[in-house]
Amino acid sequence: MAVTEKRRRLTAWLEGKGIEIGALHRPLEVPDGVRVTYVDHLPEDELRAHYPELAGEPLAPVEVLGSAEDLSAIGDSTQDFVIANHLLEHLEDPIRGLSEFHRVLRPGGVLYMALPDQRQTFDRDRELTTVEHLVDEHRTGCEKNRWSHYLDWARNVDKQGAGSEAHARRLMEQGYSIHFHVWRPDTFLDFYVAARREAGLDFELVSFAGPEREDDDEFILVLVKGTQAVRPPPRSPCAEPAAPTPPATPSLRSRVRGALVRAVRRGSPAQA
Ligand SMILES: C[S@@+](CC[C@H](N)C(=O)[O-])C[C@H]1O[C@@H](n2cnc3c(N)ncnc32)[C@H](O)[C@@H]1O
Repeated sequence: MAVTEKRRRLTAWLEGKGIEIGALHRPLEVPDGVRVTYVDHLPEDELRAHYPELAGEPLAPVEVLGSAEDLSAIGDSTQDFVIANHLLEHLEDPIRGLSEFHRVLRPGGVLYMALPDQRQTFDRDRELTTVEHLVDEHRTGCEKNRWSHYLDWARNVDKQGAGSEAHARRLMEQGYSIHFHVWRPDTFLDFYVAARREAGLDFELVSFAGPEREDDDEFILVLVKGTQAVRPPPRSPCAEPAAPTPPATPSLRSRVRGALVRAVRRGSPAQA
């Protein structure tokens, strides 16, 4: 399947030992010799209760219990890589999450992140999250917006209509892990540049893959901690020659490139 092939292609950046946060039922398949420790904010029995739809599917073992926004169980500069697939949108303060990933990575360490594209998922009827909103929550706290995030989910994802408030209240009391934030590739790249500046993160984007087919619902970024030296792309882990990359649709590709160019020219899109 296309999505798996794209994920696999970019794992060529991974080496050594590191962590995957929120692997759940889809741990990233990593190249031989790469060692992964699995981190989640819930132990396995609570993950089973939280995701009843995954009954019968194997889950990655939870070896370290901790929130992506507080990885205090993991030392500074100890990890060769951090994998966070379909995780950042679950964080109330993704800038804090990115700062934690940056802290635990060694210089030259790799952050591998897949994110859902709003147009391709159950988020399609929701508003895109703005950079200003994320910077403001990072600076002043997330609690004030928590209710509106749950209500938005109840109305526009779970489509509860008149029952939305009661539904949102139940989910919030339960601490249900909704997508707090919603991006497309270009809005995420704007956010990434703002977050880097806001939190003083020394990350460099070394690889980006947008949705490549109609059934591909995610985009992937590979970031390296430390921007001092150019790091050449790794060799593919595949024995066979790499298949040519299916072209992204021209409009999507040009939008992503446009966002990158705009973000770099602006330097600081954070307006808050
Ligand atoms: C949608 S699943 C992602 C599954 C898989 N990685 C994938 O690519 O499809 C989100 C995962 O992130 C975990 N998670 C959510 N919020 C978290 C947090 N604050 N800290 C750590 N893990 C979190 C959830 O428990 C779950 O395992």
